[in-house]
Amino acid sequence: MTQRSHDSFGIAVVGQAFMGRAHSNAWRNVGAFYPDGPRARQHVLVGRDRAALERSAGVLGWQSVSTDYEAVLADPEVDVVDLCVPGHLHADMAVAALEAGKHVLVEKPLANTVAEAERMAEAAAAAAARGVHAMVGFNYRRVPALALARSYVESGRLGQVRQARVAYLQDWLADDAAPMTWRLRKQTAGSGALGDLASHAVDQVRSLLGQEVVRVNGDVRTFVTQRDGESGREDVTVDDAAWATLQLDGGAVASVEVTRMATGRKNSLLVELYGSRGSVRFDLERLNELEVCLDGATELTRLLVTDPGQPYVDHWWPPGHVLGWDHTFTSQAADLLRCLAEDRPPAPSFADGLAVQRVLAAIEQSAAGSGTPVDPKETR
Ligand SMILES: NC(=O)c1ccc[n+]([C@@H]2O[C@H](COP(=O)([O-])OP(=O)(O)OC[C@H]3O[C@@H](n4cnc5c(N)ncnc54)[C@H](O)[C@@H]3O)[C@@H](O)[C@H]2O)c1
Repeated sequence: MTQRSHDSFGIAVVGQAFMGRAHSNAWRNVGAFYPDGPRARQHVLVGRDRAALERSAGVLGWQSVSTDYEAVLADPEVDVVDLCVPGHLHADMAVAALEAGKHVLVEKPLANTVAEAERMAEAAAAAAARGVHAMVGFNYRRVPALALARSYVESGRLGQVRQARVAYLQDWLADDAAPMTWRLRKQTAGSGALGDLASHAVDQVRSLLGQEVVRVNGDVRTFVTQRDGESGREDVTVDDAAWATLQLDGGAVASVEVTRMATGRKNSLLVELYGSRGSVRFDLERLNELEVCLDGATELTRLLVTDPGQPYVDHWWPPGHVLGWDHTFTSQAADLLRCLAEDRPPAPSFADGLAVQRVLAAIEQSAAGSGTPVDPKETR
């Protein structure tokens, strides 16, 4: 393992497209908005196409590029490997990085299968014993309004939370003519809306409620079974939409609904929590707002979550100067760097990613059994 500085971390991002850009933006900005925290050095952008990497590196602020992942893992300037690649690459790349002594941030879902996620969680546990840490990128934990909702649950302000409703609705596959991509092939994506969107939804249920899922009834559906790929018509081998009822060990029940076919919904992550003393309602398309029913109120009212003292807000702008989706990645980077500097395990951990993966597998398994209940612990 390399000798590390605790106030500056060399970063390697792997992947330069959607998440590669979002994470690059976070690493570029984290020092400016979290100036009291450790620094990030944008050391190397990693991918397969050198010319494309060089174009992106200039725009996104990277010092160098590489198409050789093994060389990146051998580079003593690299402290953190940040994986922004399709799911089928997560397990091998993350385990290799941890074994090379690099801290790892991997995009969600942790893996494509429970077996891969188990292997990753085992590697992360072994690495943690050597002071090497791993985190999964459920960035919505860093939305100020959702972090505030979590604090309400933790402090008992909602009373006993009995019911949660989480829906994640997008529409980019509503058009039958939308083309084939890696996200629609089981081999590369593992699953469809389930891994892509329900992973976020299940992570929110677990983190907001602080409870574990113990029983799952689920259903999945593929509405458009073939699409046009580069070499002609291809079978879609993942789900377009999924539904589940989750029983939690603290007695709460959560409903989860995810789809990439909700015409007119662009990126709507809806979260509702109903407790014995209060409730909250959130929609990602109105990211700065939390509807709250608290302290004896009888209906939900809108709270703008941009005030001093509210989670993450102090690092950004004055009240009412609203934040966006991209800020969650910068706050995620800041939280990770602080944990690394203090040799503390970051959250969400690979164990959290594995727990989510088991719930996703339980939804699929339940669907295959016409909705029979499945205990996530019994998924493989
Ligand atoms: N947190 C979020 O909200 C969020 C949103 C979208 C995607 N994601 C996750 O991020 C990950 C990447 O998704 P994306 O949307 O950025 O995909 P994308 O298709 O936009 O980008 C994938 C990148 O991986 C690169 N790549 C593919 N194979 C590679 C290989 N063998 N070696 C190196 N690079 C390779 C591609 O060139 C591309 O740059 C997935 O796990 C996805 O689920 C998370």
